Amino acid sequence: MSYPLELRDVVKRFGGLTATDNMSFRVEDGESLGLIGPNGAGKTTIFSLIMGEHRQTSGSILCNGEDISALPTYARIGRGVCRTYQVPRPFADMDVMENIRLGLMPNNLWQMLVRGPNHDREIELALSVGFAEGDLKRHPAELSMGDLRKLELARTLATGPSIMLLDEVFAGLTAGEISQIAELINQKRKEGMTLIIVSHDLKSLEPLIDRAIAMNYGAIVAEGDFAHVMADPDVRAAYLGGE
Ligand SMILES: Nc1ncnc2c1ncn2[C@@H]1O[C@H](COP(=O)(O)OP(=O)(O)OP(=O)(O)O)[C@@H](O)[C@H]1O
Ligand SMILES: [Mg+2]
Repeated sequence: MSYPLELRDVVKRFGGLTATDNMSFRVEDGESLGLIGPNGAGKTTIFSLIMGEHRQTSGSILCNGEDISALPTYARIGRGVCRTYQVPRPFADMDVMENIRLGLMPNNLWQMLVRGPNHDREIELALSVGFAEGDLKRHPAELSMGDLRKLELARTLATGPSIMLLDEVFAGLTAGEISQIAELINQKRKEGMTLIIVSHDLKSLEPLIDRAIAMNYGAIVAEGDFAHVMADPDVRAAYLGGE
């Protein structure tokens, strides 16, 4: 049986610091998994390892049964895996449309060269994450944190993913923006997208996930149903001691 994503005994050391310590877990097809834990627990490092932005010290990462541990990032994106960043990373001198176009490029390069850019797809993606028509020519410096997070989502959706890794999608957002992003995530779930969502905003996270994994010091402390994980004494201690 293969899974969209599976980590086997993944260790990552940065010098003397062990950021992930023998992490093993699987995500099922169409599942939405919440990854929680205090600051420095290793959540973002897991995403960087899955994307190949950092190379694990040992262990392996499998995507649909194939060991992708040694593949470069673009090849992993080509297998349908993508991520958003905790600190949004738009290209500052490009507008909303142009930023989304960059996400579309690798899959559509040939079509773009032959027929020119497909603005319809860019506009469709921008509107699908909640941008208004009037926002399309805006530059990142003019956008609110909510809009920057929408842009992150649109850029990653442009790569045509089947697995999305979302890092702190709610951080810095107003209540209205949180519900917009939550609605979008729910829509992707309905469409069958496999998700791993990292969030410190546990209240917003809970209704969006099927299962949770709590980490501390690079290792899994508890996993299972959200309420069960939150009731775990080690998880409570990690949150109290770690913030
Ligand atoms: N590139 C790096 N070089 C050295 N140490 C790093 C690097 N990236 C992360 N770390 C360290 O690895 C540990 C895990 O960091 P990570 O960013 O994965 O935590 P996190 O769970 O995402 O935390 P937060 O909730 O604050 O975002 C931390 O101690 C961090 O300082
Ligand atoms: Mg992080």
